[in-house]
Amino acid sequence: MKLHPIWEDYPDLSSELEQVIQLIKRSIRMRNKEVEAVLTDMLESGGKMLRPAYTLLFSAFGTDHDPERARALAASIELLHAATLIHDDIIDDADTRRGKTTIQSKYGKDAAVYAGDYLFTVSFRLLAKQVQSDRQLDINTRGMERILMGELDQMHLYYHLDMTIRQYLTQISGKTAQLFALACYSGALEGGVTERKARHAYYIGSHIGMAFQILDDILDYTQNSESMGKPVLEDVRQGIYTAPLIFAMRKNRQQFEPLLSKRDKMTNEDVRMVQHLVNELGGLKEARSLAGKYTHKALKRIDQLPMSPEKQVIQSLTKQLLERKM
Ligand code: IPE
Ligand code: IPE
Ligand code: MG
Ligand code: MG
Repeated sequence: MKLHPIWEDYPDLSSELEQVIQLIKRSIRMRNKEVEAVLTDMLESGGKMLRPAYTLLFSAFGTDHDPERARALAASIELLHAATLIHDDIIDDADTRRGKTTIQSKYGKDAAVYAGDYLFTVSFRLLAKQVQSDRQLDINTRGMERILMGELDQMHLYYHLDMTIRQYLTQISGKTAQLFALACYSGALEGGVTERKARHAYYIGSHIGMAFQILDDILDYTQNSESMGKPVLEDVRQGIYTAPLIFAMRKNRQQFEPLLSKRDKMTNEDVRMVQHLVNELGGLKEARSLAGKYTHKALKRIDQLPMSPEKQVIQSLTKQLLERKM
C-alpha cells in the first residue's frame, strides 16, 4: 500500500493514516468479492487522505481524546468522501480516479451506484458505533445533506453563461467545503472540546475546503490527467464553469460565447482554446489569489489554536495545500 507523498514529512500521522486505511479495509465485507476487491483497491490507490488527517489532528485538542475512536471517525469521514467520489464519477462520466479505471467505467453505472451506496452504509455503521452523542450523528447527516445540495446547485447551473463567482462559491461550499468542515469539527468534538471550539474548527475546515476546491479547479486547467490521476478539462464541456473561467469571462465574455455555446459538442480544439483564453485573460491568476484568500482566512483562525505539535502540522499542511500540483 502506498500513502500519498504529501505525508512523507509526517511519520506519526502517516502511521495513523495507515491504520485508518486498515480499519476501512476490515470494515468492507461484500458477498460480491469482485466489487469488494475494486473498492479495496480504490481505497489503497494513494488518495490523499486529507479529510481523515484533519479529523485526527483536530481530535488531539480536547481532554477526552481516544485514538481508536478518532481513527474510526476518520475512517467514517474518508468513506463518506470515497462514496461521493464513486457517485461523482458516474455523474461526470469519468474513466479514471486515483490513476485507476473507475468502477463506473469498469463495471457500469448500476454497479457503481450500489458500490457508492454501500460505502455510505459502512461510513454510518462506523460512525454509529463510535459516536458518544446524537449531536455527532446529527452533524454528520446534516453535512451529507449539504454536500448533496451543493451538487444539486451545480447541476442546476450547468452551461450557465451568467454564472457568478458568488454562485460558484455557494456550490463549492456545499460540495467540498462541508466535508472538510465536518472532518475538523467532528475530530474536535471527539477530543472533547467545547462546542465553541468545535465551531472554530468547523470554520477552519470550511476555509481549507474552499481553497482546496478552487485549487482543484485551477489544476483542471493546468495539469494533465496523468499527474492528477483523473480526467482534466472535462468540466467546461460538461457545463461546469469554475473560478478560472468565470474570472476570465468577466474580462471578455464575447470571446468565450461562440465556444461555450457548443456545449457538449465542443471539440478538443475548442476546449484548448478556452484553456488558452482562461490563462491569457488572467483567470488562473485571479483564481489563485482567491484560493490564497481562503487559505489566509484558515491560517488566521489556526493561529488562535493553543500551541501544540498538531497545530504546527495543521499550519504547514494547510500552507502546503495551496502549493500542490496534484
Ligand atoms: C477530490 O478530492 C474531490 C474534490 C473535492 C476536488 P481529493 O483530491 O481529496 O481526492 P483523493 O481522495 O485525493 O482522491
Ligand atoms: C468532486 O467534485 C465530488 C464532490 C465534491 C462531491 P468534482 O467533480 O469537482 O471533482 P473531481 O474533479 O471529479 O475530483
Ligand atoms: Mg463532479
Ligand atoms: Mg468529477
